[in-house]
Amino acid sequence: MCGIVGYIGNQKASPILINGLLRLEYRGYDSAGIAVMESGEISVMKDKGRVKNLYNIKGIDDLKGTVGIAHTRWATHGVPSKENSHPHKDNSGEFAVVHNGIIENYSDLKEFLTDKGYKFYSQTDTEVIPNLVHYYYNKDEKDDEQRLLRAVSRVCKDLKGSYAIELIYKNKPDMMIVVRKDSPLVIGKGYKENYISSDIPAILSFTKEFYLIDDNEIAVLTRDNVEFYNSDLEKIEKKIENIDWNATAAEKDGFDDYMLKEIYEQPNAVRETIGSRLPEEGVCIFDDLKFTKEYLSSINKIYIVACGTAMHAGLVGKNIFEKLCRINTEVDVASEFRYRDPIIDDKTLCIYISQSGETADTIAALKLAKSKGAKTLAISNVIGSSITREADYSIYTHAGPEIAVASTKAYTSQVVLMAVLAIYFAETLEQDNVAEIKELKRDILSLPGKVENALKCNKRVAEFARKVFQEKDMFFLGRGVDQTVALEGSLKLKEISYIHSEAYAAGELKHGPIALIEKGITVVGILTDPKLVEKSISNIQEVITRGAKTFIVTNQELLNNNFEMVIRIPEVNPLLSPIVSVIPLQLFAYHISKEKGLDVDKPRNLAKSVTVE
Ligand code: F6R
Repeated sequence: MCGIVGYIGNQKASPILINGLLRLEYRGYDSAGIAVMESGEISVMKDKGRVKNLYNIKGIDDLKGTVGIAHTRWATHGVPSKENSHPHKDNSGEFAVVHNGIIENYSDLKEFLTDKGYKFYSQTDTEVIPNLVHYYYNKDEKDDEQRLLRAVSRVCKDLKGSYAIELIYKNKPDMMIVVRKDSPLVIGKGYKENYISSDIPAILSFTKEFYLIDDNEIAVLTRDNVEFYNSDLEKIEKKIENIDWNATAAEKDGFDDYMLKEIYEQPNAVRETIGSRLPEEGVCIFDDLKFTKEYLSSINKIYIVACGTAMHAGLVGKNIFEKLCRINTEVDVASEFRYRDPIIDDKTLCIYISQSGETADTIAALKLAKSKGAKTLAISNVIGSSITREADYSIYTHAGPEIAVASTKAYTSQVVLMAVLAIYFAETLEQDNVAEIKELKRDILSLPGKVENALKCNKRVAEFARKVFQEKDMFFLGRGVDQTVALEGSLKLKEISYIHSEAYAAGELKHGPIALIEKGITVVGILTDPKLVEKSISNIQEVITRGAKTFIVTNQELLNNNFEMVIRIPEVNPLLSPIVSVIPLQLFAYHISKEKGLDVDKPRNLAKSVTVE
């Protein structure tokens, strides 16, 4: 759960490294550091705190080296401190390493090295890596060009867990080695220079040409060249991927925060997700999927597996798949699914949703399903991400980079993509609900405009947020699909405002939680499904009677209105309503966080990409 950057070229490395780290802070931001090759020595500068604190380190501006590695950390082993910050050197000071991931057997490795006389100065798991490299490098009697590569490869055989590692060696100042397993890492190719990063946007302003490194591959970088090896040290060829993203797409575009920018990007994100998959005439098109009627008819269960917001998108997807395709669909949290021996076989289709494509639990859950013979389909926003490389099939949301830790446009585009996918399934299966599908297609195509319209509530939501931002607890209530969006609204609020909230099926309230309703508490009600609105209103009246303040999101005309605030959103097919009704909820969490003066984009204890268990 950290970000790493590397540079080898002819420019001063430190500004490039720090620039890259600043763009990777969403991966972690409790400490940061860089190591630069400096006149025959490795100069390490690091400290606790945000990346920008690096600018305060004395001497950092004077570094002239043109080869370096860098790291922004989110603590897993050892508290955030200067000692635990990366880069870490071995005892001799000859090797420096940055690492993202977790070395699960680091205690055993530490014991092994301690027995050999190595000393440890941090509480991290990472510190075993440079010392192991030193150990194997010196044990190797053959002093040839491959010696360092052999040492790194040998170390990897000892490591259990996940890692993306960059290594520099003082006596080989014109090269660097990187390796990955279950942690993201890309190489950007320049002219007489090469870059490394945990993700593409961080170095997109420097290059558009990338190599995507796969698990257990090692790359040796010089200024002019990148060579790739498999774990047996056989040379392998990799093709360059041209990434046609606009670097400015990753900037804030004049908004105060990435989150607000991303909330406002949703009409476009939804449009991009639909893309050319849903022609106004004719059947739905998925270029990357070649499912036949025979195959889809053989599926007796769909599992949708994901974490957090992506899992909430899955809950909406379940309704759509069941309604349109009549296939039994279950949703599970990846961290539970992977350990609960789920019943799956070759008749199960497992769909994995992950914005980043790097979530460790989701990837592990996917590997489990594959091992049991199920077909796997990944829905991700990141081209070439780990999950898409593991899955049998991958489709992309095309929502553009999401930088804010709290996910917004990824959620709406995931739901849209599942709706389009369900239509594709239903059409391939030749279901007899042609009229229903035709209407749903029309509704999907109208979504960008409806989301745009829903954004107009911003000012009124901000007004309500000003009234309630000091509260300690809130409730989110809804029935049917509105309950799934209640879960998402409640998660957004918790994440960025640190206000405790509960999301409940409105009808379940009187079976316990109503005991918590007292005068002044805020209850958010989502009322969009015409069949259920009356019932939900009765539940809302029960909380009003007990003194609650109510914030209502609805697409219906509500008579007899004794609610504190009503946000009216455009009406849409109930299957799709979360794509519109989530907008006021995202804005609500956003404005409360701003009123409290919090860092909206980087909430405490959270990181954008959860690449460890
Ligand atoms: C919430 C949020 C998280 C992610 C979850 C899965 O705002 O962002 O709950 O949805 O960590 O992440 P991905 O989709 O990258 O697998």
